[in-house]
Parts: sequence; structure tokens; C-alpha cells
Amino acid sequence: MKYYILFGPPGAGKGTQAKFIAEKYNLLHISTGDLLRKEMAAGTPLGLQAKQLIEGGNLVPDEVVVGMIQNTFKNNKDVSGFLLDGFPRTIAQAEKLDEMLAESSEKVDKVLSLVIKDETIFERLAKRALIEGRKDDADPATIQNRIDTYHAKTEPLIDYYKEAGNYCEIPGEQTIEEVFQSLCDVIG
Ligand code: AP5
Ligand code: MG
Repeated sequence: MKYYILFGPPGAGKGTQAKFIAEKYNLLHISTGDLLRKEMAAGTPLGLQAKQLIEGGNLVPDEVVVGMIQNTFKNNKDVSGFLLDGFPRTIAQAEKLDEMLAESSEKVDKVLSLVIKDETIFERLAKRALIEGRKDDADPATIQNRIDTYHAKTEPLIDYYKEAGNYCEIPGEQTIEEVFQSLCDVIG
């Protein structure tokens, strides 16, 4: 089983690229953000718990997203691999993922890290707010909090995966097609 992580700040292009990569490499795309938004839309208890945190630009608790990932792995044993988008996002989540995979003698194959400047995040999310209507894109203070949260809690994963030896950086400010090509070059 292959395990790829599509890593990067809000608006880096994880969701955009995940669709193409999952199709080309026959991987199951798992976006914890998409899963949480589905729970919110369905008004489940988990969705209600997550709503305020997400709309304020804060992370939901580690155990919530770890549980969602565990369920998805358990219910999809017949796929050839997974493409994780938006997970892990904290060191605790990364450690838990490594533990889960170690149980079946597996590991993360590659961390594909899309790099973009904070100004570009703002531009892209403000534009997307008008198209997709995500509440966490609508308010500049929420976008700023998502960026700050990324730097404080998620960016430390770069060193974690550099140390593991599976970290690859891809410039995220090329065209969508160029980013896709760069990702394919790295995946090989
Ligand atoms: P999540 O849904 O994961 O949001 P995010 O990480 O903030 O990332 P986005 O989905 O906003 O951006 P993206 O990188 O997918 O970019 P996209 O391709 O859409 O998480 C939302 C919330 O859920 C979190 O804040 C948190 O509360 C919670 N959550 C989720 N996972 C969690 C976890 N593991 N732990 C705890 N909490 C968690 O592109 C953005 C825009 O740019 C689009 O309009 C796109 O068309 C455009 N674009 C893309 N590529 C390009 C390009 N190359 N050039 C020009 N425009 C481009
Ligand atoms: Mg996304």
C-alpha cells in the first residue's frame, strides 16, 4: 500500500492537485477538511463540534481527525494507496499516523510539500470565497488565523519529515498544470 501526503498551507493547491494525482496514480484521496465539511453539512454531532473551530480558522482536536483517518483506512482495504490532503497537521497527528502504519509494517512513502507565500494564500482564498462560499475563506481575520496556525502547528512537520528522509518540496506558485507536472516528476 502506498501512502502519500500532500502537504502545504491553506490555499497551496492541495485539493486542486489531489484530484489529478489520485486519478493518475490510482490512489484514494482523503481530505480531512472535506470530510469535516460533509459532517457539518449533515449536521452530525461531530460536524456541530467542528463548525465553530473551522469557521474560526482553528484546528479540530487531533483525536477527531485521527479517528476519521483510521475509519477510512479500515473501510478501504482494497485500494492500491492513499493520498492524504490536510492530514497530518500536527506533530501528534504525524506520530499517530506513523504508529498506525507501523502496525502493518508500512510507512509514509513521500511527503509532497507545496510551497507558496503568505500573500498568495490571501489572494487565492479571498478569490475562492466568492466561488465556493467557504465561511473560513470569507473573513481576512480567519484567513490570518489559519496562516498563523499553519506556521505554529503544521510547519514543524517539515523538519519531522526531513528527518524521516521522505520530504520533497514543489514550488506551488507555478500554473496548475506546471505544479502537476512537478508533482509527477517527484512521485516518479
Ligand atoms: P482544509 O479543508 O484542509 O483547508 P486548508 O488546509 O486550509 O486548505 P484549503 O483547502 O483552503 O487549500 P488547498 O491547499 O486545498 O488549496 P486549493 O486546491 O483548494 O481544512 C479546513 C479546516 O478543517 C482547517 O482549518 C481545520 O479547522 C480543519 N482541519 C482539516 N484537517 C485537519 C487536521 N488534520 N487537523 C485538525 N483540523 C483539521 O486551492 C485554493 C484556491 O487556489 C482554489 O480556488 C484554486 O482554484 C486556486 N489554485 C490552486 N492552485 C493554483 C495555482 N497553481 N495557481 C493559481 N490558483 C490556484
Ligand atoms: Mg483543500
